[in-house]
Amino acid sequence: MFRDEVITRVFGSLYELCEATAQQIVNEAAKAMYTKGNFSLVLSGGTTPRKVYQFLSTLHRDEIDWEHTFLVFGDERLVPPDHAESNYRMVKETLLDHISIPEANVLRINMDAENPCEDYARRIREVFALRNGEFPKFDMTLLGMGEDGHTASLFPKSPALQERESIAISVHAAGAAISDRVSLTLPAFNNSRMIIFLINGTNKAKVVADVFDNPDCNYPAKNIKPLDGELYWFLDLEASALLTSIV
Ligand code: 6PG
Repeated sequence: MFRDEVITRVFGSLYELCEATAQQIVNEAAKAMYTKGNFSLVLSGGTTPRKVYQFLSTLHRDEIDWEHTFLVFGDERLVPPDHAESNYRMVKETLLDHISIPEANVLRINMDAENPCEDYARRIREVFALRNGEFPKFDMTLLGMGEDGHTASLFPKSPALQERESIAISVHAAGAAISDRVSLTLPAFNNSRMIIFLINGTNKAKVVADVFDNPDCNYPAKNIKPLDGELYWFLDLEASALLTSIV
């Protein structure tokens, strides 16, 4: 059952949710540095994680060894890097501009490449020294969920949900403001050691209740289950409002 596989935490406000997430990132980074000397974090786009990135670049800036941290984009929209809808722009403004991290450690999805999806998968394989067909083992992955149950750029009914071999995939999300995108795939996300969904606001209450309490619901977000890792859902009070119970 979904509820048995997820650790759910409900916070009084978005502020508290984001501070707890930033703190958990600091803790996981420290553990990863201690055990293997580096830390990889997959970043979610959207609006919810902005404050997490701001906390990381201010309050917690000196608590992470950025030199040995890899920041990996979970998805990107087909727009230039300075576009209002660019996930890279959002992360740059809230985090990258304020920390000292080697450029080579930031794995962004380059939409100017001839084939952005191939280019991104190749870059990930190079940085993490993977053979063709191998998936990276990210230490931690942040994800959000849209009101239609999409996560990263994996949208309901998309053929991208069937992808089992590639690390990244090109997506056409009819209906989304920016419909052409690149996303990591389900097997790439599910290979993470820890995944945290960050969900806030009344507009997400219905879709959260569906994921947790409707056994027939099969939204893309519900297909995120680490093969061998921990799954957290961090909700604010508003997003949790329609749940039958918290545990
Ligand atoms: C994207 C995101 C997407 C996002 C959800 C929730 O780039 O669009 O990765 O999956 O996380 O749409 O977005 P909000 O946090 O803005 O609600």
